[in-house]
Amino acid sequence: MTPLTIILLLTAVITCQAFNLKTTRADFPKINLQRHNGTDPNLAYSPPVYPSPWMDPEANGWQEAYAKARDFVSQLTLPEKVNLTTGVGWMGERCVGNVGSIPRMGLRGLCMQDGPLGIRFKDYATAFPVGMTAAASWSRNLWRDRGKRLGRTHYQSGVDVQLGPAAGPLGRNPTGGRNWEGFSVDPYLSGIAFADVITGIQSEGVVATAKHWLGNEQERFRQAGEARGYGFNISESMSTNMDDKTLHEVYAWPFQDAVHAGVGAFMCSYQQLNNSYGCQNSKLMNGILKDEYGFQGFVMSDWQAQHAGVSTAAAGLDMTMPGDTTFNSGLSFWGGNLTLAVVNGTVPEWRIDDMAMRIMAAFFKVGRTVGNQPEINFSSWTQDTFGPANMAAGENIEQINYHVDVREDHAYHVRESGAKGTVILKNNGVLPLKKPKFIAVVGEDAGPNSHGPNGCSDRGCADGTLAMGWGSGSVEFPYLVTPDSAIQAQALQDGSRYESILDNYDWEKISQLVARPNATAIVFAYAGAGEGYINVEGNEGDRQNMTLWRSGNELIKNISAINPNTVVVLHTMGPVEVDEWYDNPNVTAILWAGAPGQESGNSLVDILYGKQSPGRTVFTWGRAHEDYGVDWLREANNGNGAPQDDFEEGAFIDYRHFDRDYPPGSEKAPIYEFGYGLSWSTFDFSNLQVEKRNVQPYKPTTGQTIAAPVLGNFSTDLADYTFPSDVRYLYQFIYPWLNTSSSGEEASADPHYGQTAEEFLPPGATDGSPQLRHPASGPNGGNSQLWDIVYTITATVTNTGSVMDDAIPQLYLSHGGEGEPVRVLRGFERVERINPGESRTVRMELTRRDISNWDTVSQNWVVTPFEKTIWVGSSSRNLALSSVLP
Ligand code: NOJ
Repeated sequence: MTPLTIILLLTAVITCQAFNLKTTRADFPKINLQRHNGTDPNLAYSPPVYPSPWMDPEANGWQEAYAKARDFVSQLTLPEKVNLTTGVGWMGERCVGNVGSIPRMGLRGLCMQDGPLGIRFKDYATAFPVGMTAAASWSRNLWRDRGKRLGRTHYQSGVDVQLGPAAGPLGRNPTGGRNWEGFSVDPYLSGIAFADVITGIQSEGVVATAKHWLGNEQERFRQAGEARGYGFNISESMSTNMDDKTLHEVYAWPFQDAVHAGVGAFMCSYQQLNNSYGCQNSKLMNGILKDEYGFQGFVMSDWQAQHAGVSTAAAGLDMTMPGDTTFNSGLSFWGGNLTLAVVNGTVPEWRIDDMAMRIMAAFFKVGRTVGNQPEINFSSWTQDTFGPANMAAGENIEQINYHVDVREDHAYHVRESGAKGTVILKNNGVLPLKKPKFIAVVGEDAGPNSHGPNGCSDRGCADGTLAMGWGSGSVEFPYLVTPDSAIQAQALQDGSRYESILDNYDWEKISQLVARPNATAIVFAYAGAGEGYINVEGNEGDRQNMTLWRSGNELIKNISAINPNTVVVLHTMGPVEVDEWYDNPNVTAILWAGAPGQESGNSLVDILYGKQSPGRTVFTWGRAHEDYGVDWLREANNGNGAPQDDFEEGAFIDYRHFDRDYPPGSEKAPIYEFGYGLSWSTFDFSNLQVEKRNVQPYKPTTGQTIAAPVLGNFSTDLADYTFPSDVRYLYQFIYPWLNTSSSGEEASADPHYGQTAEEFLPPGATDGSPQLRHPASGPNGGNSQLWDIVYTITATVTNTGSVMDDAIPQLYLSHGGEGEPVRVLRGFERVERINPGESRTVRMELTRRDISNWDTVSQNWVVTPFEKTIWVGSSSRNLALSSVLP
């Protein structure tokens, strides 16, 4: 044991519970909710999977990027490689995350910027609809277009890596705080939207980030520190506990699509999964993501989600964000500590090389070139034109905001996506509006924020119409077209009389207004949600309940009691309780618009007046919150240890749960089922045809990987890594260098004092020899045969009504066998502009993965022997056609 080895052990901060268990990667351990006799026999457990897989030079779609990355990384010094992996610290530079630069090679430090619906903190940029509204259009054209436009927005601002899109949370909990950032609680729908948006972003030269991997389904307890701030005395973040089958078939499913689409980056999550932190969970990162799914890009931590040094590197983390241990601590688990750990051999050289390779390969894959990165033309920390380029240090005052307008013509997309993602839940014939004589708009949710559209930081308040959620997934509105202004503009054009009252509590005036003759009352109500660091009126991210805010329910009931033509418009981040009024005959129409972004009012007018075709709901509308069978964990249930959230319902969330427990006609059957939505016309489905395709039988993957490549030499003399004398130290900035070249003896207090790397790390972690391939593995999302098309399904959709309209046929499948959902979504298409009387053929394809189940024993996808039925129709409960798969 050299003194060098000793000091590195001090730097390796260890908290992972799974580390001393003797399992290697070749054993393909399965996650099981059964309790393990490891550190705590009562807790769900995540098995260790080591070593961390290195890139595959032959991976489809990555070969060229690999070669370029190899050429680049081979020329780097160790501190330069470390610079790629470690953020410069919170507010160290202009983006929400920046890694160190490599000036010698002409690489400016990569800029990582939120988020899923636009570019956070930048002026003159577009506020797109939230993911959930975008999803409700069921339009792949719009999703790809969204991706491209988001990509361009980021590219033109100088962003290298966009921190989005999101498919986790998936939306298990109907009131989960960040469900809106993703697409839908259905993994299939979510996966396709996710992949389409990623493809679009990356086609514009920006790396997309699939987040959050995995199980971040609620805000409360996601970070122990944040939870303590809310008065919960817990020492560790919560653990989301799920079994291996549910993980593969539900929560990880869209992420597999992301890998298949070639996504460049993943973000690991704050909370633990099966009692191992997301950013040091070797089963999740090494095992499922990099081995089984063959992910070739890099994994970055969520902000402050890294809790250990060497062990996170061994578990598959490639980049730490924002680089400091906690915001502005000036300390890092990596940076100089990673340099040291590589020099003394705790982190094998091949691992740091692989980290650098993955980051640079993602960069090259999207078409970026070194020396040619667009300028970062904004600062996340101020909108002032001049200010410190290094905000945390307050140094280097210069022009940091160039106020570049990156909006192009995205407003057209936003308006169309907001309209096509608006769902008509009820319409007694009042819609589309035709020059109504008198429109009376009521509700705060129709009007402006009294402090301006960006009046609350990160949109964290309830004031005026809800067009976005709050938190890091928000952006600055360049303007916000309120429903009040847009409907008024249309009313004036039509010669309608128009009045609005935007105060929910001015009942005296409201009742007088809506009681007047000929009043078409349009009542607005909302329910917001967001990220856990902001508490909006008692909602600490997650919604406390499923009721409308600001007495919206009472408002609707009171108005519809006196007005016989009450149109309800809902801006909500998921389902709300509508049971008390939805079937009141005076409620003549109900619309859900989610959160439509900057063109909110215009999108709504396009639907209210029938200028655009509406969408279909991407979640179930149950009668009551309790009927969903799940809820976010509200109490710390494990003393001051990590709260435990067991996903005991497995796959049975949203419609899978309702279909099993509340069939049609039962008391708790949903009011509006998943996939439902009215359109302007009526459609008939006929002529279902199933063609079985001739594909090779599925072969589990065999063979071995190459040995881990090592790219270049490095000195083992600590003196070569001390802070260079010609660099000025910036306060709180994270560097790759060491403070001292002395090995020090203070390490003796460390419990790992004296251990070698092999003793200190879990078995196999330092092994760079060729590894057995996982049977379900393959580059680009797993065994390539999973993507074979095994059935082609066609059906005819006919417009039987009298107006041109879009139909959204949906295909559902039952896998058969015990314990399986009644049916799951496996195909859909938005068929646009079908003329009255016209028929169109829709064609949907089933891949092998679509008809398979995850087998926990063979650790592979299998087509079970049970009869499989498919249905085609207009929603999950309105399925006109069916057939058994031959
Ligand atoms: C935390 C959020 O969870 C993540 O989604 C976001 O990208 C980072 N903060 C950076 O703002």
